[in-house]
Amino acid sequence: MKHLKIFSILTIICTMACTRLMAQKFEELAQTPPMGFNTWNTFQININEQMLRDMVDTYVSSGMRDAGYTYFVLDDGWMAMDRDKDGNLVADPKKFPSGMKAFADYVHSKGLKFGIYNCAGTKTCAGFPGTHGYEYQDARLYASWGVDYLKFDWCNTDSINAPDAYRTMSRAIHAAGRPMIFSLCEWGDHKPWFWAKHVGQLWRTTGDIHAGFVDNLSMGSWSSLSVLNILDKQVAIRQYAGPGHWNDPDMLEVGNGMTFDEDKAHFSLWCMLAAPLIAGNDLRKMTDQTKEILTNKEVIAVDQDSLGVEGFRYYSFDGLEIWVKPLAGNNLAVCFLNRSSREQNIYYDWKDHEITDGVSKIDIDFNKTGYSLRDLWLKKDIGTTNKTFKQAIGSHQVIVLKLTKL
Ligand code: GLA
Repeated sequence: MKHLKIFSILTIICTMACTRLMAQKFEELAQTPPMGFNTWNTFQININEQMLRDMVDTYVSSGMRDAGYTYFVLDDGWMAMDRDKDGNLVADPKKFPSGMKAFADYVHSKGLKFGIYNCAGTKTCAGFPGTHGYEYQDARLYASWGVDYLKFDWCNTDSINAPDAYRTMSRAIHAAGRPMIFSLCEWGDHKPWFWAKHVGQLWRTTGDIHAGFVDNLSMGSWSSLSVLNILDKQVAIRQYAGPGHWNDPDMLEVGNGMTFDEDKAHFSLWCMLAAPLIAGNDLRKMTDQTKEILTNKEVIAVDQDSLGVEGFRYYSFDGLEIWVKPLAGNNLAVCFLNRSSREQNIYYDWKDHEITDGVSKIDIDFNKTGYSLRDLWLKKDIGTTNKTFKQAIGSHQVIVLKLTKL
C-alpha cells in the first residue's frame, strides 16, 4: 500500500516534469490577447527607420501605449535580399542605417516591446530570405537584438509540414532563451487550433483581412477577406482559445478606410472575440475618431478580460445579431450588431432570453438575476436587465453593453 502511494506520487511528479520538459513555448506570455501595432496593413514593405521612429513616438504621445498597446511589430520587408556570409539575416542597410539592434533599443527605450517577422518557407511572402533551415540561427539573432515577438508566416512552404515547421521554430525560440510571443500566421490552413496550443501564443485563423466590412476583395489568385467574413469563420473554433493561446482573426483595419461605424463595429467584435488587438493604421495620421476607437479603455477591457473566453453568436435574425462574451466575476459583455443595410429596432426583453454557454458553463436566467447595463461607447449607465432594452441601431452599427451582476 505504502509502495503504491509512493509510486503514484512519483508518477505525478514525473508527469509534471515531463510536460514541463516537452513545453516548447514560454507558457507564461500573453495571458490576455496581445496588443500592439504592425506595419503591414498600411505600409506593406515600404518601411524605414526614421518613419518607424516617428511612429514609435506617436505610439506613446497618442495614448496608445497608455491604453494597453505594448508591441511594435515590423512585418515583411525589413531584411536585405541576402543573408551574410555566415548565414545571418541582415536588416536592409538602406532602410535601417543604424541596424536592427539600435531600432529595437529605441522601441524598448519608450517602454514598448519589439516584434519582427519572418516565414516558415524558403522565402517570405514578399520574397525576402525565409527561415526554413535556419530556425535556431535566426532565433538566436532575434534574441541578441532583443526581439519580444515573432510573427511567422507561411509562404513558399511547398513540401513543408506545418505543425513540424512551427514546432521547430517554437523550440528554436525557447532554446535561444529570450521570451518571445510566437505568432503563427499560416492562415488557418492546417487548423492550428488543434495543435498549436503549446507551440505559440496566437494563430491566424483565416487569410488576410482588408479594410472592407461586407465584401471580400479579389487579389487575383486569392481574396482578401472582409470583417464580417472573418467574423463568421470564428464561430466554430472559439473553444480552442484561452489565456496564452488565442485565435487571431488578423490585424485591425481601424482607420484604414471603413466608415466610423464600421471601424467601431470591427473593433468591438474583435474585442468580443478576445482577439489580439494589433493596430494597422498610420498612427501619425490618426484622426480623433480613430483614436477614440482604438483607445476606448472600457471596450479594450472586454478584450483583455482575465477569464479569456472568446465570445459567441447568441442570436441572429434578419441581419441583426447578438454576441455574448462571458467575463470574470460572472459579468457579461453583450454586443448588438446590425449587419444589414437598413436601420433596425431592437426590442429586447432580457427575461425572455436565458443565456447558456457550454464553454464557460454559464447559465443566466434574467428572471432570477438582474444586471446593471453600461453602454461602453456612450460610456453611460443605462439601466438594468429588469426593463426591456429598446433602441434603434443603424446599418453596420454596434451597441456594446457591459452587464454587471446587481
Ligand atoms: C501574409 C500575411 C500578412 C503579411 C504578409 C507579408 O500575407 O498573412 O499578414 O504578413 O504576408 O508579406
